[in-house]
Amino acid sequence: MSDNKIIDGKAFATKFRGRIAQQVATLKSKHGFTPGLAVVLVGEDPASRVYVKNKGQQTHESGMNSFEHRLPASTSQVELLALVNKLNKDPAVNGILVQLPLPKQIDPQAILDAIDPAKDVDGFHVVNAGRLATGGKSLVPCTPRGCLMLLKDRLGDLAGKRAIVVGRSNIVGKPMAQLLLNESCTVTIAHSKTRDLAGECRRAEIVVAAVGRPEMVRGDWIQPGAVVIDVGINRVDAGGGKTKLVGDVAYAEAFPHAGAITPVPGGVGPMTIACLLANTVTAACRQRGVAEPA
Ligand SMILES: NC(=O)c1ccc[n+]([C@@H]2O[C@H](COP(=O)([O-])OP(=O)(O)OC[C@H]3O[C@@H](n4cnc5c(N)ncnc54)[C@H](OP(=O)(O)O)[C@@H]3O)[C@@H](O)[C@H]2O)c1
Repeated sequence: MSDNKIIDGKAFATKFRGRIAQQVATLKSKHGFTPGLAVVLVGEDPASRVYVKNKGQQTHESGMNSFEHRLPASTSQVELLALVNKLNKDPAVNGILVQLPLPKQIDPQAILDAIDPAKDVDGFHVVNAGRLATGGKSLVPCTPRGCLMLLKDRLGDLAGKRAIVVGRSNIVGKPMAQLLLNESCTVTIAHSKTRDLAGECRRAEIVVAAVGRPEMVRGDWIQPGAVVIDVGINRVDAGGGKTKLVGDVAYAEAFPHAGAITPVPGGVGPMTIACLLANTVTAACRQRGVAEPA
């Protein structure tokens, strides 16, 4: 546990990726296989291109095999499903990630449903969501998994803590709430219809904001000493024709109240890809019948 109020996700993720690289090296030397991650990008969305490039780079750096599939924006759902089916059957591919958003002719749910749950390293398949909810062995969505790691590193045992998750998306809010519940927190899930959001936040010892609204969570919503995890990534006008990234929490306001807080950038963001790599190692071990790294 650290005394520093700022939760340095970047440093944490760097160390975590180092441990993953060691695990990959051990799998190679002791068990003779190298985990492989396939990332599929459809179209030319600029943010998605950056994410996919970073994922490929960090997969290589960890010693794993990276398979990148770039398809044109005109790709049909049938074509994408055919690729997913091929990857499902490929033994060199242990994890499959289809980068969202997809072009409008493709139903994302149909694609997510088609990924083999054992290779669903994003943890978005209904089987993995169901297992997470019922306490089974699942692959956990990367961003909430990263948030939980940062929280446990800071607080140790979370049992009995009052936590609020602001946001109820399937990829962040709901699995985050589920993970906190699994840690025996008392969890409130807030959303756009929540009455007195400020009051709900003030009761919480753990605040996770995953809203997508720049600096919506104000400083005086944070009870003294609460730990604040800001998932939001919002690009806003910084004046002079420039832009900057801010979170869903008004950082400067919240800082004096919080016991600890993640910055944006450099907080939750770097944990997401690190957890993707960890999920790929986990998926590979389960597929090969090898003990998973702790
Ligand atoms: N760091 C990372 O790696 C990472 C990964 C994923 C996402 N993100 C960021 O996290 C943020 C959330 O992402 P997401 O995919 O979960 O977003 P999303 O699917 O748009 O969901 C946003 C959630 O916020 C709730 N909400 C919207 N306005 C609200 C308000 N005024 N008061 C209370 N709740 C409100 C919505 O409520 P309703 O359900 O009632 O509409 C919804 O549940 C975004 O900034 C995104 O960029 C970061």
